Amino acid sequence: MAPLRGLRRAPRRIGLVTRCFDIAVISGDGIGPEVVDAAVPAIQAAARAEDAELHWSRLPYGADHYLRTGETLPKRVADRLLNEVHALFVGALGDPRIPGNEHARDILLGLRYRLDLYVNFRPCRLLHRDLCPLKEIARPAPLAGMGGGGEDGRNIDFVIFRENTEGIYSGRGTAKHVGTPDEERVAEEVHTAPKVERIIRAAFQWAAANGRPLVTMTDKSNVISAHALWQRLFEEIGAEYAAIRREHRYVDALAMELVRNPERFGVIVTNNLLGDILSDLGAQLVGGLGLAASANLHPGRLGLFEPVHGSAPPLAGKGTANPMAAMRTGALMLGELGLLDASRLLEEGVSSAIAAGVRTPDIGGLARTTDVARWVEEWIRKR
Ligand code: NAD
Ligand code: IPM
Ligand code: MN
Repeated sequence: MAPLRGLRRAPRRIGLVTRCFDIAVISGDGIGPEVVDAAVPAIQAAARAEDAELHWSRLPYGADHYLRTGETLPKRVADRLLNEVHALFVGALGDPRIPGNEHARDILLGLRYRLDLYVNFRPCRLLHRDLCPLKEIARPAPLAGMGGGGEDGRNIDFVIFRENTEGIYSGRGTAKHVGTPDEERVAEEVHTAPKVERIIRAAFQWAAANGRPLVTMTDKSNVISAHALWQRLFEEIGAEYAAIRREHRYVDALAMELVRNPERFGVIVTNNLLGDILSDLGAQLVGGLGLAASANLHPGRLGLFEPVHGSAPPLAGKGTANPMAAMRTGALMLGELGLLDASRLLEEGVSSAIAAGVRTPDIGGLARTTDVARWVEEWIRKR
């Protein structure tokens, strides 16, 4: 999977050959710290296999810190990160003690906006057929191939390009008569041409670079008139990519089609909210949130890498959360740092663990978080 190149800064050098990358880590809340702690050594082992070093600096931000100090992510820290690190790695943010979720919005959405990370890249690729909940795909006969990636559809293997800086996430709106019977809340959905254009362009460019024959754009333009901008720009920009077929689906029909025939999709581009929702649906088609990775990118700048899942409060502290989403997020990060072999190795390590039955309960196994991550780390070391 060719990366989008989120790296802005050259690696530091140690000696003649070792490249060193500085990674800032916010492991966050709930299962975040467990999956990050488990995944880091495996990510590190993969980097070393390509003669690179990762230098991890842990930041304390998250629910506990916020409740203790009132601080989410201080501006001085955010400024330093922007200037000093090669990537940001986040576990999960969200805590039932903070029902308004303000710390998570401030940290996660704050960093996405601050860095203008307009591509939220969320791959949905089936690693083993028994992970798919659809009976037609999880059938006993092997899939014809595991290459996949759209139209010809031999496997579920699509990528969601989620616009990551505007839409209904704009935060604009009003609240009137709060707490009264006349309460009224308005949330504004914002779509601006340059921002819609750049995410659509990123989707087509990636499709072209990765041999994907079809790009699907989804919206609700039959009801939300603001989505007309997506329609126009999708046609205009798509026309520049003669080799790639383009199609539009209303999001309700796309949700249905993703369950009926997910193998036909290769690249799906959409706005912020629909991308958020569809990425959890896509995750479950290929095994669930325990496996789903994501990267927040702006080509040429440092990226923020986080699993699609959240802090999963019911699982926190049990030691059974699946660390594979965090490891695969690490694989996306390695790819964006230019460590393509390391990225492939880590993804292969995860696939091998699944094939060997080394699985946490969410994907049908009995292994614990740390067992799975150590198995993958050992598998990488033995290569
Ligand atoms: P969630 O993604 O945290 O979990 C939903 C369910 O998915 C869990 O209860 C669990 O059954 C399963 N699951 C998720 N990750 C798993 C893993 N690694 N291994 C095994 N099973 C896993 O969604 P939620 O419960 O709606 O949200 C909990 C909190 O997380 C909320 O505060 C929400 O705002 C936040 N959140 C944060 C992020 C993020 O930080 N990137 C993403 C989504 C949700
Ligand atoms: C995600 C999450 C976030 C989002 C929340 C926690 C702000 O659901 O990354 O998918 O809605 O973008
Ligand atoms: Mn989400």
